Amino acid sequence: MGFLSEDLKQKILACLPRFPNKQAVTLPALHLVQDELRCVPLEAMREIAAMLDLSPAEVHDTMSFYGFFRDEQHPLGKTRLWMCRSLACSLLGAEELLDHACKKLNVKPGGTSADGKITVEFAECIGGCEGAPCALINDEHRMNLTTEKVEALLAELRQ
Ligand code: FES
Repeated sequence: MGFLSEDLKQKILACLPRFPNKQAVTLPALHLVQDELRCVPLEAMREIAAMLDLSPAEVHDTMSFYGFFRDEQHPLGKTRLWMCRSLACSLLGAEELLDHACKKLNVKPGGTSADGKITVEFAECIGGCEGAPCALINDEHRMNLTTEKVEALLAELRQ
């Protein structure tokens, strides 16, 4: 029996027709695995490699090139909260908001709350400058943040 679920393997295989070759599916496969498992364990890398006719080292090279992926020692929480700290957001207090979120969750940037519900990370411009300071919750923008809004957001994500 494999490490990846049949459903996950099918999702990876379903990417094949959309890419020019198997190797090009490495990145989408890593995203699919991390979305489901909240990290990319070694065994998952081996299985991705086997499915795509690559060596595990090639899959690992791709994974480790991007800071986006987590290994099994550093899994993501249920929600990934990206707090922007680039210029537009920074000028409007983004660093203080990030500090505030980290204090509330008792973590450093990159850390996950003890209940496993929220991983808070800093991000560079997330494309919401018109609503600075802002954050991304998984793929959804939250704009015009204030300390109070960050607290309400954290409470919402902890429910
Ligand atoms: S600088 Fe924060 S979204 Fe662009």
